[in-house]
Amino acid sequence: MRLDRMCRMPSISLPQPANADDAMDAPLLRMGVVAGDIATLPPELGVDALVNAANESLLGGGGVDGAIHRAAGSQLMDFNRTLGGCPTGGVKVSPAFDLEARGIRHILHAVGPVWHGIRDTGVPGAPGDETAQLGYTLEDNMLASCHARALEMAALLGVRHLAIPAISTGAFRFPKERAAKIAFGHVHGHLLRATLPERVTFVFLAQADADLFSRVAQNRRAWMGSPRR
Ligand code: APR
Repeated sequence: MRLDRMCRMPSISLPQPANADDAMDAPLLRMGVVAGDIATLPPELGVDALVNAANESLLGGGGVDGAIHRAAGSQLMDFNRTLGGCPTGGVKVSPAFDLEARGIRHILHAVGPVWHGIRDTGVPGAPGDETAQLGYTLEDNMLASCHARALEMAALLGVRHLAIPAISTGAFRFPKERAAKIAFGHVHGHLLRATLPERVTFVFLAQADADLFSRVAQNRRAWMGSPRR
């Protein structure tokens, strides 16, 4: 059955580069976007590891965390109790337990930041809200850390196809477009220099969020090259 009939909503491919010879665009051939439930991706997608949007306790919650814990079964909670939590920006790995039936071998529990968006940080010229230059808030750096560590861990584990949700953009209120740029930028940078994971698929519950991400990817040249002040 075609992929777009398996996911709840049609899959979206990222803008394909004119030709893969353009080194900066080559990673786009290894990136995809789907709209659906990350805990029930069709095995035919070939995903073998999931990133979870966890909290510092690693003991479950709602959203992505709830869906993955429900699908993995109670052994996941028992295992995570042995991990002793995880600081924001960090990632810890667990087996997939009942999700192995879907071809998942690992769950990478990433703890994203809560977005505070504090306008006045007390540092002149250094706002902490959406007016700040991308990458210039503590939350930006914590979200970047989640993605960088999840990708590094996936490569070390030999993950071939990694699924990543929109970390921190739900209960943790991180602005969606800002998070999309950080997620896309870090996956793009990792795939430029690493062979594993072979493929990364971004998974969004809402079609509108998947569409937003695809637009961010489409417009990458407008925001990725912005020189740091
Ligand atoms: N599959 C894919 N995406 C999902 C799913 C799902 N099953 N459920 C929610 N989402 C989307 C949300 O729409 C949001 O855009 O994932 C994004 C992240 O939302 P959350 O799951 O709320 O994660 P986050 O914002 O990182 O907050 C983490 O919420 O669930 C608790 O225990 C979790 O305390 C932690 C906090």
